[in-house]
Amino acid sequence: MASRLFEEQEHAALYQKYRLPSPSQIHNLVLDYLQRKKGKPFSLAVDIGCGSGQSTRGLASYFERVIGIDVSRAQIEEARKVDGPENVSYRQGLAEELEFEDGSVDLMFKTLAPYMSERCHVVRNKYEEIFDAITFPDKERVDNIHFKRQASVSWVKGFFESLSYYQTFRKKDPERAKASIERMEQSFLQTVGVTPSDAVLEVKRTAFCLLASKPE
Ligand SMILES: C[S@@+](CC[C@H](N)C(=O)[O-])C[C@H]1O[C@@H](n2cnc3c(N)ncnc32)[C@H](O)[C@@H]1O
Repeated sequence: MASRLFEEQEHAALYQKYRLPSPSQIHNLVLDYLQRKKGKPFSLAVDIGCGSGQSTRGLASYFERVIGIDVSRAQIEEARKVDGPENVSYRQGLAEELEFEDGSVDLMFKTLAPYMSERCHVVRNKYEEIFDAITFPDKERVDNIHFKRQASVSWVKGFFESLSYYQTFRKKDPERAKASIERMEQSFLQTVGVTPSDAVLEVKRTAFCLLASKPE
């Protein structure tokens, strides 16, 4: 079922600016798995729900061709604005209606950041239900993938602004939304005790990865 929380241009532009590609640990896991299951050449990767294309472009050097697909026209427009590698292209479309010939895709890739919806528990349970629902006998999960990066307070603020639940709040009550994000920024700055221009935080995140291979 499509989540239509990323339809506005302004939101997609924030997404483009503040979202990062999936970390190299995830790429390495996926590529190792693909190498074990199929081996080279890696012809076609499809990034489902590609957003503004950060992770799609991150796959470009490993595959002959990468296609990013997203239901949101605004996200696809933002993705296309980036001078990307030439083997990457984007299409507006639904994950449920993919039109690829059977056996023609080497990797179906899907990254998802936690976001608020009635289905949030699916992410909180680390996709247990989705893992159980995969009927391919060959499946693996990798938990507790930790990564960290340095980030400025202004980047963290922009990241929060790019979250769909912040955008929903902003639409309902722009003043309170703005005030809450400014409070958060001030509280970060007070905690680290530096001026806005030189405030840098270490942002830690934990990911998990589900891998599955369609039987021959
Ligand atoms: C949380 S964003 C993740 C974007 C990107 N993969 C990333 O990690 O930055 C989820 C994206 O999935 C798209 N989406 C949601 N449901 C979809 C569906 N059924 N088919 C295609 N795209 C979908 C949304 O428009 C949104 O851009």
